[in-house]
Amino acid sequence: MSSSAEIHPVPAGFAGPDTITADAYARDYTRSVQDPDGFWGEAAQRLDWFKAPTKIRNVSYDLEDFRIRWFEDGELNVSVNCIDRHLARKGDKTALIWEGDNPDTEAKHISYRDLHARVCKLANALRNLGVGKGDRVTIYLPMIVEAAVAMLACARIGAVHCVVFGGFSPNSIADRVSDCGSKLIITADEGLRGGKSVPLKANVDAALKLPGTNTVETVLVVRHTGGAVEMQMPRDRWYDAVVDDQPDTCEPERMNAEDPLFILYTSGSTGKPKGVLHTTGGYLLFASYTHQAIFDLRDDDVYWCTADVGWVTGHSYIVYGPLANAATSLIFEGVPNYPDVSRFWNVIDKHQVTIFYTAPTAIRALMREGEAPVKKTSRKSLRLLGSVGEPINPEAWRWYADVVGDGRCPIVDTWWQTETGGILISPLPGAIDTKPGSATKPFFGVQPALVDANGAVLEGATEGNLVITDSWPGQMRSVYGDHQRFIDTYFKAYPGNYFTGDGCRRDEDGYYWITGRVDDVINVSGHRIGTAELESALVLHPKVAEAAVVGFPHDIKGQGIYAYVTLKAGEAYSEDLRKELVRHVRSEIGPTASPDHIQWAPGLPKTRSGKIMRRILRKIAENAPDQLGDTSTLADPSVVDSLVKERYIPG
Ligand code: WT7
Repeated sequence: MSSSAEIHPVPAGFAGPDTITADAYARDYTRSVQDPDGFWGEAAQRLDWFKAPTKIRNVSYDLEDFRIRWFEDGELNVSVNCIDRHLARKGDKTALIWEGDNPDTEAKHISYRDLHARVCKLANALRNLGVGKGDRVTIYLPMIVEAAVAMLACARIGAVHCVVFGGFSPNSIADRVSDCGSKLIITADEGLRGGKSVPLKANVDAALKLPGTNTVETVLVVRHTGGAVEMQMPRDRWYDAVVDDQPDTCEPERMNAEDPLFILYTSGSTGKPKGVLHTTGGYLLFASYTHQAIFDLRDDDVYWCTADVGWVTGHSYIVYGPLANAATSLIFEGVPNYPDVSRFWNVIDKHQVTIFYTAPTAIRALMREGEAPVKKTSRKSLRLLGSVGEPINPEAWRWYADVVGDGRCPIVDTWWQTETGGILISPLPGAIDTKPGSATKPFFGVQPALVDANGAVLEGATEGNLVITDSWPGQMRSVYGDHQRFIDTYFKAYPGNYFTGDGCRRDEDGYYWITGRVDDVINVSGHRIGTAELESALVLHPKVAEAAVVGFPHDIKGQGIYAYVTLKAGEAYSEDLRKELVRHVRSEIGPTASPDHIQWAPGLPKTRSGKIMRRILRKIAENAPDQLGDTSTLADPSVVDSLVKERYIPG
């Protein structure tokens, strides 16, 4: 554990005119936690308000008197902040660059002026279709310009968007549509990824046949690939047919700072995915401030975040943060290995990308292909690299720095969550020396602490559960439709604190090292999936009696999914059934939820009270049968021996 051994100092000559220096970070961080009202009141001036807030912060984590409110008497509109206010000086600046899945498809450059017209037209069309302030709109689109336009058009009229990742199945769409009661869905004929088409419209059709989805009145369909789809009139409307003739200006809705902006579903340790609710003022302020400071944004940057808008990273760091900052943000439809494994680096050269933000799983996958596919490209335009989604192992960090960045570009390893709205722990590239594998230091206003299982605060160099002791403006405000679940999930375990669900180490320099989830959530390629969700999908299969799912270390994905399955009496284990169960989980949840291994389990290790002992199952999945610990409390210790014998052994 080399915490202080390997330090990468801020490169000499990195700083631009507005780069935050080490001294400025120390000074402003102190102020941000000692005088949060003064600090955030000033920071709020980076946004344009119809009515500037006079109340900055109104927060109590007290379970009996719980509230999180920021800028509560302020009024603003997110789309005005992301577009209109840039028009006078930067109307011709490129807001979005679109690079298609196929490198031969012509890239698009959308100026702020053009974006304004597109957003206004769709906003008008949505209003004509009866969508208004507070209504929910589901967005199920590929990575195309219309995805950003749709989010901003909702924001313009005060509708609450709920983006569903294009890799999710009809079941998952239906769950989300019914939970939030969407009135309208925006989708496309098909998506395109790695040369393969994804039947988006057909998935929506299948979802809308499922119970609970009859709130949906209209489905808008973007013509993208031109693939054939079934249009069900009058429900289904072509996007261009309803949008093209609309006026290209649209009066924005005046929104209160605490009005909802979007819902995004994410997996937790229990039950169905939660609708994480973010509001308007605090979220936008936090997304834009973190984006500018952590990526040290400059006017001529070309910024590329490879996430999908279906995840929070796409919300905060492809759309809202960058556009609020009048940046040029690249939207990429494709995948890292199509048409070949140089694609990322070719796109960087083609569009002269200066800031590149991706996930450790992609870095590890590309690292496996060796240096040649990287080294044959220039990448001279790059000046800063970012990482997000899971802990980055030091080996991948060094490869990213040395091979991709030619040893020239600092790396910002950014720790945050769907719930946090924006980055909470990360280096500021001109202020904080980095250590491979550490997200380093908290952003302004963020107060991390480490606690033990009993909630006692641990001081100094130590390891424990990561909590945040006070609010920040980008914090989620509720679980949609279930405020009590919000409080119970995040504020009960360690009263007075927000519990992240992550374990963490702090070294002697005060640097934070996230060690991964400490709850029953698996992080597969930077995507969260709850073991409870996987287990309920498995037991839905008619032949399955019981299932227990754990994560295990995976070279590329970070964590893989390991399922133990017990069949019903009389059912026979077979290779075909194993494949069928994998297909079954994919169709219940989506391809990201595919189990990597299914082990047949004649019995599961349970306590005498019937509780599955996951600790034991995790150790078996990790191929560490010598570390099972005490098994004497099991109802039937012999089941462990048979599971150990039949375990999957890598290699
Ligand atoms: C979980 C949140 C944040 C947007 C993408 C994922 C893990 C995220 C890091 C990082 C170590 C990280 C945590 C966190 N995580 N970034 N830089 N280092 N771990 O959002 O799906 O809400 O997942 O991802 O475990 O709790 P998410």
